[in-house]
Amino acid sequence: MSDSASDAVSFLPLGNAPQSSAIGLYARATAGFDARLDETRALLREAHAQYGDGLLQSSSLGAEDMVITALLAELQLPVAVATLDTGRLHAETLALIPQIRAQYGIEVQVFTPVADAVVHFVKTRGENAMYESLALRKECCGIRKLEPLSRMLAGRSAWITGLRREQSANRAEVPFSEPDGQGRTKLNPLAAWSWADVWYFIQTRAVPYNALHDQFMPSIGCAPCTRAIAVGEDFRAGRWWWEDENAKECGLHKSKSNEELKSGATA
Ligand code: ADX
Ligand code: SF4
Repeated sequence: MSDSASDAVSFLPLGNAPQSSAIGLYARATAGFDARLDETRALLREAHAQYGDGLLQSSSLGAEDMVITALLAELQLPVAVATLDTGRLHAETLALIPQIRAQYGIEVQVFTPVADAVVHFVKTRGENAMYESLALRKECCGIRKLEPLSRMLAGRSAWITGLRREQSANRAEVPFSEPDGQGRTKLNPLAAWSWADVWYFIQTRAVPYNALHDQFMPSIGCAPCTRAIAVGEDFRAGRWWWEDENAKECGLHKSKSNEELKSGATA
């Protein structure tokens, strides 16, 4: 992980929010923010002009994705917003769906796993099989995330994610736009944003956010696979924390650099 990401999570500035809140901990106006924001706005406008109804925002309801949804609303771009509800999300995460409806008038589309597949997996492998082996963890992600993702993206030509370069070494080269390997374009409009940028935007636009971010969970996924991090720990240290660093992706975001890292090549 880069030093800048480490700095971002351990940075303790005094904002105008209480110290215990994520805004108080992370929001900071830094040089170049306005330019990065303009660039992101332009990218979203161009994406909508190019892909129209073929475009979708894939939202985990995490801080980055809330920024993107807020920007889509601000720019009045009628882009579908969808989330994968794995059945293991925190209540705090799901609570954002009605908040998005109330604040932006956007109805988040929710995609869930095939019930029979989940029941079979839990019956044969157990409720918390993800801790037993990487293979079982990936099987769980396959059933609860990847299969619903393929339905979520059916009929779409491009999707928007909240990936940022600063999030991890695996993501250090995330481009603004890339082929997703499935014939679609993946757009990462916050690729160049810092964690401080994300929270500065949330603070200044009163964007709703996951209450778990106030409990030292910068990166939030499913409940059994997410824990709080300590000051100075990696941004994604609380995700699949029992696994090897290079395994920490669920398969939603396969990229050349990921594959190179996993096979031991230097990225
Ligand atoms: S993950 O691969 O480790 O789970 P991460 O939580 O960092 O990914 O999120 C990166 C991006 O993947 C998010 O900004 C979002 O675009 C997409 N994403 C992750 N989880 C979901 C989800 N449950 N539903 C929809 N999109 C998601
Ligand atoms: Fe299953 Fe954990 Fe993957 Fe969620 S993140 S789908 S609970 S293994």
